Amino acid sequence: MPNTSTSYMGLQLRNPIIVASSGLTRSLEKVKECEAAGAGAVVLKSLFEESLANKDFGMKDSLVDHAEAYDYYYARLEKLYGGQEYTDMIREIKANTSIPIIASINCVSTDWWPDYALQMESAGADAIELNIFTTATDLTMDSNKMEELYVEIVSVVKRKVGIPVALKIGPWFSALPHLALEFGHRKLDGLVLFNRFTQPDIDIDAIKLKTSFSFSTGDEVHLPLRWTALMSHYLPYDICATTGVKTSEDVIKLLLAGASSVQVASVLYEKGLGTIGEIVTGLEKWMSEKGFESIADFKGKLNFHAAASPAHYLRAQFMEKISEVE
Ligand SMILES: Cc1cc2nc3c(=O)[nH]c(=O)nc-3n(C[C@H](O)[C@H](O)[C@H](O)COP(=O)(O)O)c2cc1C
Repeated sequence: MPNTSTSYMGLQLRNPIIVASSGLTRSLEKVKECEAAGAGAVVLKSLFEESLANKDFGMKDSLVDHAEAYDYYYARLEKLYGGQEYTDMIREIKANTSIPIIASINCVSTDWWPDYALQMESAGADAIELNIFTTATDLTMDSNKMEELYVEIVSVVKRKVGIPVALKIGPWFSALPHLALEFGHRKLDGLVLFNRFTQPDIDIDAIKLKTSFSFSTGDEVHLPLRWTALMSHYLPYDICATTGVKTSEDVIKLLLAGASSVQVASVLYEKGLGTIGEIVTGLEKWMSEKGFESIADFKGKLNFHAAASPAHYLRAQFMEKISEVE
């Protein structure tokens, strides 16, 4: 039987399938289900700074006549204890499971990231995933400044914690290869390509805004495939590919492109956690057929540097000869 174990950011995973940050990883019970289903690791549901901002810690009533005092104490308390439920959950999960547990944080203001990261590390998380997304609406902020924000967050968190740190980003960057290398200079341990977000929509009957949500489709896997292949051969850290990963074939392709691991969410919502076992079995079968004993035997074999016809990773226009559609 081939060995499907992989190393991701120095963490040893029994297989490359990580359950992505989602409702599937939001409690001890859920994480135990993922572990029992064969997951290599899990990324916990993100701790969102925004949702903590709505907590009150029971202070509003006692400080009702002292608005300034309330604001002051609230800001400090929130920072110190806001994530406590989350860190309690990490402790509980670590005490009751044995697969690697990656905590996930999403902050809005830059100065909170390192504090939360430290709280996660102290609670026993094996690694941290920084889930960064900022919508560019500030007309005075150019793309350099926007990218600097990402680099700065990676720098401050890496200076604060000793456990591995991954960064999960969306796909909308104009010069990702350069930026990804900058993360490497800040000692990032893993890049997760790519997050998939909810999108805005409009209800034309009520003439109101709403948020659109859908699970990913299998076609979406080609975007992380392209960027994993283009960057995996030179980045000094690991890539974890996500969005649109549905089958063992997808996982094999992403490993061939150079990913160290993959994350899945939608397919598990749609078909159940049993899909993890099916993907691993499919991976083992393919490895046996091809004579590969370990993932290292074929990881990156078709990255941009190694592939015989790497132009496929660059090509994006619909030329008839290639798309076979007129
Ligand atoms: C219901 C749901 C909740 C999610 N919540 C989070 C989250 O809290 N943090 C995060 O980084 N990603 C979150 N995601 C994104 C997933 O982690 C993943 O990156 C994305 O769904 C792409 O993978 P997929 O194609 O397998 O669904 C969520 C996805 C779904 C479907």
